[in-house]
Amino acid sequence: IIMAKKQDARAPIYNLVVVGLSGTEKEKGQCGVGKSCLCNRFVRPSADDFDLDHTSVLSTSDFGGRVVNNDHFLYWGEAGRTIEEGQECRMNVVEQTEFIDDQTFQPHRSTALQPYIKRAASTKLASAEKLMYFCTDQLGLEQDFEQKQMPEGKLIVDGFLLSVDVSRGMNRSFEDQMKFVGNLYNQLAKTKKPVVLALTKCDEGVERYIKDSHAFALAKKNLQVVETSARSNVNVDLAFLTLVQLIDKSRGKPKIIPYFEALKQQ
Ligand code: GTP
Ligand code: MG
Repeated sequence: IIMAKKQDARAPIYNLVVVGLSGTEKEKGQCGVGKSCLCNRFVRPSADDFDLDHTSVLSTSDFGGRVVNNDHFLYWGEAGRTIEEGQECRMNVVEQTEFIDDQTFQPHRSTALQPYIKRAASTKLASAEKLMYFCTDQLGLEQDFEQKQMPEGKLIVDGFLLSVDVSRGMNRSFEDQMKFVGNLYNQLAKTKKPVVLALTKCDEGVERYIKDSHAFALAKKNLQVVETSARSNVNVDLAFLTLVQLIDKSRGKPKIIPYFEALKQQ
C-alpha cells in the first residue's frame, strides 16, 4: 500500500515543446537556429552525450524509422530536476522541426500537411510507438540504442519554448527570422499556453540581435526572455524551468540571469 501511495505522489510531469524557425535551406539558411542542441543539452547535459550536429536532412528510410516515425517532431525523452525546497519536477521534451528529403531537398511528406507554424503550435501530439531520439547516428541503427517510447504514444502540450538564434547566422537574415518568429508567436498565443523566448547561441550573440529580441518580447505582454547557449551550457535549465514556472504558478520563480552574468557564475 505504501508503494502504491508513493507511486501516486510522483512529481507532476510537464510536456514542453521547443519551436523556432525551421524548413529548407531557403528558409533557415545553412544551419538551424539551435532547437536540437537546446533539447540535447537539457535532456542529456553531460559532455559525452552532447552533440552539436543533429541534421534534419534525412533519407526516406530514416524518416520512416521508428524514431522519426514519419513525423516532423522528435521526442527527446524525459528530464528530471530538483527545484527549490527539494521539489521534484519531470518534463517530457519535444522538438518541432521540418525534415528535409536528402534527394529532393523538399520537406518529407507526412500525414500532417500543415505548414510549420500551424503544426508547431499543436497542443496534441500523437505518434504510435514513437521512440526517443538520441542522435543522428541512431537513425537506421535503432536496435543499438536504448529504445524508450514516447509515453502512450501521445502528449498534451503544456507550454512552448520559442527559440531565436541571435548569432550571425549563415546566409539567413535576422529580420527574416524575426518575421517567422512573429508569425509563429501569434499561432502559439492562440493556444493560451505559456511561452518563453529562448535566445540561442548567446556564446556568439550579436548585440543588436539580442536587443531586438528583447524589444520583440517587450512588445508582447508578459513574454519572458532567457539568454541561452547550448554549446557553453549556460541558462539552458533556466529556460525550461522558467517555462515550468509559468505552467505551474504554484512553483517558485527562478531568477532570470542575463547570459554574461550566468557565464561568470559557472
Ligand atoms: P532544424 O531542426 O534543422 O531546424 O535545426 P535546429 O534548430 O534544431 O538547430 P540545431 O540545434 O541542429 O543547430 C544547428 C547548428 O547551430 C549546430 O550544428 C551548431 O553548429 C550550431 N549551434 C547550436 N547551438 C549552438 C550554441 O549554443 N552555440 C553556438 N555557437 N552554435 C550553436
Ligand atoms: Mg533540429
